[in-house]
Amino acid sequence: MKIPETETFEGRTAIVTGGGQGIGGAVAKTLAERGASVVVNDLDGESARKKVEELRAAGADAIAVQGSVISAADVRRMVEEAIEQFGAVHILVNNAGILRPTPVIDIEEDEWDQVIAVNMKGTFLCCRAVLASMQAAGWGRIVNLSSTAGKNISTVGGAHYTAAKAGILGFTRHLAKEVAADGITVNAVCPGLIDTEMVRSTISDERLAAYTESFPIRRLGRPEEVAELVAFLASDRAAYITGAALDINGGDLMI
Ligand SMILES: NC(=O)c1ccc[n+]([C@@H]2O[C@H](COP(=O)([O-])OP(=O)(O)OC[C@H]3O[C@@H](n4cnc5c(N)ncnc54)[C@H](O)[C@@H]3O)[C@@H](O)[C@H]2O)c1
Repeated sequence: MKIPETETFEGRTAIVTGGGQGIGGAVAKTLAERGASVVVNDLDGESARKKVEELRAAGADAIAVQGSVISAADVRRMVEEAIEQFGAVHILVNNAGILRPTPVIDIEEDEWDQVIAVNMKGTFLCCRAVLASMQAAGWGRIVNLSSTAGKNISTVGGAHYTAAKAGILGFTRHLAKEVAADGITVNAVCPGLIDTEMVRSTISDERLAAYTESFPIRRLGRPEEVAELVAFLASDRAAYITGAALDINGGDLMI
């Protein structure tokens, strides 16, 4: 059997949630550069539109769809717009996520619900909405953003974030088994500390420097490095990987 050598996404449509900035922005750019038509979703419509302008300026097919991944109606509309514009959905990257650094004793119910919902329910709703299109195509790739928090504990976020990211790993395994026979793979990536707004706006430069010093590879990860792993999992070359949770953390966690 011949393993495909290049990751060309020509003829494939990808939805990237929370794609207006950070890791999602880098994923959208990487997939678009390799030929995918990209739907950039974000709660912040302005950031999604800016990202789409950038992708189109580089010659890609892309549309922005503002919406929240925790609204079933928004998610349905996002998938409908993707299909209307590009004909099908082949790749879904569940990247939208939020983090709060609150200790358990201080977490209000609303905050708990919100962190669990955006990370976990959003992942479920988006998967549910794209499966029919992937099944019809007989090919699909779903990549879920978990975290080292999902395997260990979060250094930056609170216990709700850790619980949600661990929940994503269980959901990933279960769905992977359900849809494996349909030609759809479902995997998770578990980044360590990546240099994005989420991290920069949550902890001080001093704490960040201290964490960085503790990593075997003494720097933060870059969004583009995570995007590279996501693109691999979204490619034909990763056809035999499903239900996995791949680490990308500079050696911070080795299990
Ligand atoms: N940065 C890290 O160190 C790190 C590490 C591990 C995992 N992650 C995960 O990677 C993903 C991306 O993180 P990031 O660092 O790029 O974060 P970020 O905060 O820079 O970007 C997240 C994006 O998601 C969008 N978003 C938030 N809520 C949304 C909703 N309800 N619907 C749609 N979009 C929404 C935001 O507007 C933002 O554009 C998240 O799931 C995060 O938990 C990040």
